[in-house]
Amino acid sequence: MTIGRKIVLIGPMGAGKTSLGKRLAARLRWDFVDTDHALCARTGVDIPTIFAQEGEAGFRKREHATLAAELADPRERVVACGGGIVINAGNRRLIAGQFLVVFIDVSVHRQILRIGRDRNRPLVQNTDNLQAKLEQLRDERLGLYEGLADIRIDTDNNHFTNSFKQLLHEVESRLRHER
Ligand code: S3P
Repeated sequence: MTIGRKIVLIGPMGAGKTSLGKRLAARLRWDFVDTDHALCARTGVDIPTIFAQEGEAGFRKREHATLAAELADPRERVVACGGGIVINAGNRRLIAGQFLVVFIDVSVHRQILRIGRDRNRPLVQNTDNLQAKLEQLRDERLGLYEGLADIRIDTDNNHFTNSFKQLLHEVESRLRHER
């Protein structure tokens, strides 16, 4: 693994990638980008609108283009990825072995408490069994998150400061080794 001056955060919806990533970037004085926000900025519409007009397949194409563009930016950056980024083999190729990858994990139980039926997350909106849907996504994706990650942080205890301290500690020790 080479750092490549980027730290890529992957993991399920509601794990805390965006809040931990913003805080990490501020601490390192690196740039921060969230692929969902970057995608919305590129298209000028929100994620539910993209899903409604182009389906998940359209969203995934745009997500891939966004990730490629954001990773190509030469700045030092923390990149928080949408939870489904890992399902696309092209995305995995862009990330694997190139950057420091952190898997931010959370249990399905905690996900339900955090995101419920969030209106901005179409994959969990129109389901009559949220727990089953989240478990299905976890089953499909867990091995992919684990396969890409250099570091794993569990946010299930719901203690942001502890999770952040652990993240910073792990990241700083990897950055030191790279020097
Ligand atoms: C998705 C996760 C979302 C967003 C989209 C699809 C997924 O990002 O990209 O709704 O497939 O898990 P977050 O992980 O930031 O919620």
